[in-house]
Amino acid sequence: MQASERKARTFGPTDLAEVLRGRRSVNFFEPEPVGTEVLLEAIELARWAPNHRLTEPWRFYVLGEQTADAMARYAAEFERATKGERAAALRLERLSAIPGNFVLTSRRADDEVLERENYAACCCAVQNLMLYLWQRGIGVKWTTGAVTRERGFYDLLGIDPEAEHVVGFFWYGRPRAVPTQKRREVAEIVIEKP
Ligand SMILES: Cc1cc2nc3c(=O)[nH]c(=O)nc-3n(C[C@H](O)[C@H](O)[C@H](O)COP(=O)(O)O)c2cc1C
Repeated sequence: MQASERKARTFGPTDLAEVLRGRRSVNFFEPEPVGTEVLLEAIELARWAPNHRLTEPWRFYVLGEQTADAMARYAAEFERATKGERAAALRLERLSAIPGNFVLTSRRADDEVLERENYAACCCAVQNLMLYLWQRGIGVKWTTGAVTRERGFYDLLGIDPEAEHVVGFFWYGRPRAVPTQKRREVAEIVIEKP
């Protein structure tokens, strides 16, 4: 073992397994915001995700009330233009009920492989963040609706689309309900080779 290495610490398997298995994407939240302090703690942990070439490609845009309102109105307008008045009203109502929001971007790269690896690293960071929040009793929803690819969405946050791309628009808060989910059996997803 080199001086820069240390022994991996072992943890009890059950706690982590329970968090990994139990985390769910949350659709409905309690109205009270949980605040940004805990989100910043989660971001501190998110940045320890693997990232090739140590690009640390993630940027977390933590939205205050004013920006979250502007985003909700923008998303509603987008909905009006694409799906009509009723859809717009529902979208505004839905987004206005979200107690906390952030947007994650990944740094673009000229090199296609590097850009893909940056995105992969951001996905790892998101999982770190979601799992940490989950064990603190906070749920997250990752959304990638068409609005997140609109120029106006980028402009609202001052994101340069040439430099970064949106990985997701995230909602977080205390879950009002936890959905159930299922997964394929391990045997269905494992291809063993001699
Ligand atoms: C890259 C990515 C994009 C997603 N985008 C959306 C979305 O736009 N809307 C949505 O309702 N859920 C979205 N989800 C959440 C998935 O639908 C969710 O993870 C899936 O249903 C499995 O549920 P679970 O997270 O509770 O295991 C997204 C998840 C990922 C990883």
